[in-house]
Order: sequence, then C-alpha cells, then structure tokens
Amino acid sequence: MTAAQAQHPQDALAILEADHRAVEQLFDAFERAEKDDLERKTTLVQRACELLSIHSIVEEELLYPAARTALGTDEKIDIDEAYVEHFLVKTLIEKFSQIKAGDEGFDATFKVLSENVKHHVEEEETELFPEIRKTKSVDLIALGKKIEARKEALQNRITEVATAH
Ligand SMILES: [Fe+2]
Repeated sequence: MTAAQAQHPQDALAILEADHRAVEQLFDAFERAEKDDLERKTTLVQRACELLSIHSIVEEELLYPAARTALGTDEKIDIDEAYVEHFLVKTLIEKFSQIKAGDEGFDATFKVLSENVKHHVEEEETELFPEIRKTKSVDLIALGKKIEARKEALQNRITEVATAH
C-alpha cells in the first residue's frame, strides 16, 4: 500500500471499479496492437489474466458474501449469476495455458474473454454495486482494507511463482 492510500483508504467498490478500468485499458490496448506484435499481445493477455484472476478471487471471497448478507433475498440482484460469470472467465483464462500468441484461436479467445468481462462489469456497476451502496449496511472502508491486503498477498504469490522458474 502506498502512503497516499494509507492516508485516504479507498472503499471496496472504488477499488474494484479501478480494477475494471485497468482491465478495460488492457482490452483496448490489445485491440490496438499490431496483428503480428506477438510479444505485446502475450504481455497484455498475461497482465489481463493476472488482474482478472486476483479480482475474481477477492470478489468471491470478500465482496459477494458481504453482498449476500446485506442484500438478503433481494430479487433484483442475482449473485449466483456473478459466480457463473466468473466461472466462465476462469475457464477462458485457463485456455491461455494451452495456446500462445500467434496460435489459431488466441485472438478470438481474448475477444470472447473481453466481451464476457465487459458484460459482467456493466452488471456489477449498474446493479450490484449501487444496491450495495444503497443498503449502507456494509462497511465499505473496512472491506476495502481487506480487499487491498488480499490483493497484495495474491499478487506476491504470483510474483513468487513467476520468479521461481
Ligand atoms: Fe468485478
């Protein structure tokens, strides 16, 4: 955590929205990448997959359970659907362990991944997140701190694995 973040802790939803913007930037950069710039495509896909993996874990471990408790059986919000969308994203991410940039299906897989994620992001930001804010029963600053800590631990683990090779 940076000094600025420690002084101005962000709420949980702002942190997750920042992740959404970051991954959208990676999707845009991939679209703009030269068709044969395989190195850049590889880097962008790797970064997007890392970010999305960490993001899905913290949402599933920390946000969705809190949302379920806060929203109860609010029929407008279906958290089960969010889990299924994450499952699809994880399945697509796994596909990248078998294909590399330049292979048939690489660009198409990333395109489908980005479309799924964009849909999921839109649902969260127009339905789930506003409902969570409205209930005022979730301490979003405290949840934000937990999310930051979990993200950092997961990022460190990924870095450890990457440097162990
Ligand atoms: Fe999300």
